[in-house]
Amino acid sequence: MSKQVSNLEKTDKNKERKVKNRKQKEGARGKHYYANNHKFCKENNALPDEFTNKIICGDLQVVLKQLPDNCIDLIFTSPPYNFGLDYENTEDAFAWDSYFKALFGVFDECIRVLKYGGRIVVNVQPLFSDYIPTHHLISQHFMHRNLIWKGEILWEKNHYNCKYTAWGSWKSPSSPYLKYTGEFLEIFCKGSLKKTGSSKNADIDGESFKAWVTAKWTIAPERNMRKFKHPAMFPEELANRVLKLFSFRGDVILDPFAGVGTTCLSAFKLQRPYLGIDISPEYCQVAEDRLRVLPLFRDIVEFPPFLQAYERQNSKIDTK
Ligand SMILES: C[S@@+](CC[C@H](N)C(=O)[O-])C[C@H]1O[C@@H](n2cnc3c(N)ncnc32)[C@H](O)[C@@H]1O
Repeated sequence: MSKQVSNLEKTDKNKERKVKNRKQKEGARGKHYYANNHKFCKENNALPDEFTNKIICGDLQVVLKQLPDNCIDLIFTSPPYNFGLDYENTEDAFAWDSYFKALFGVFDECIRVLKYGGRIVVNVQPLFSDYIPTHHLISQHFMHRNLIWKGEILWEKNHYNCKYTAWGSWKSPSSPYLKYTGEFLEIFCKGSLKKTGSSKNADIDGESFKAWVTAKWTIAPERNMRKFKHPAMFPEELANRVLKLFSFRGDVILDPFAGVGTTCLSAFKLQRPYLGIDISPEYCQVAEDRLRVLPLFRDIVEFPPFLQAYERQNSKIDTK
């Protein structure tokens, strides 16, 4: 013990502690051992034109089945959390086992349509009052399906969820109630941790990169939910960070629970083709309206092919 303390005292706090023979030790431990015997095909496909830059109104279980395998670079989504919210066209209070059965069915389709090296980022908040660790159960499902866990980001909302007091057993260890001030983003990769793409299409600057890899993002919740008539939007800044940190310009982005199109809006602005699906015609209409007012939307989306149009307008994307 005293030897340990003296070694720690000697450690320079600014330097990462060195592990000797790191590679060898990783090999012996079995890095992402749960994902290594996957059978994912490495051949990727293009997303067909009829699904490119579209908001599709329908049940995602039906729509996703129409997509080819391996055609999406990044999925960023936030499923209904089963909190009992009032969505336009769906229930949000299922028995937990049927909720997870349906959700995992959706995620299996998401895995199928992801490209080799593609990523899925799921924004979720567990329902603490039901003692259901939704983020852990979702992660476990992806690991059972041989995806590689890339990490978890804590989206800190600065006490947004703690306006009222619910202490549980006040001043007693008998049953204190833990309150969270944020949500989680679980990040998984299909087949490979590394994503292929031209460095010219990376659009994250150094300062943002340094700040965002710390995996705790302080972002205020969306303030316009009433305006857009949706009870559970995430803010555009959250989508912007996910897209810039985990995808290249020109990568195909899918949000299967698109709501009022926040992910799609971010994708369009950041020069990535998108597909958004939602079951509610009202939410899809709002998503279309939000997109349609963006500068260049008509030129780029209504006059495909997409990448050539982008090139013409911006001369930025490297399509090689
Ligand atoms: C948490 S919200 C997503 C909100 C979105 N992130 C945004 O910022 O607008 C989940 C969405 O999933 C949609 N949804 C629920 N079940 C669905 C299904 N079977 N097919 C398609 N969409 C569904 C709901 O209508 C709801 O808009």
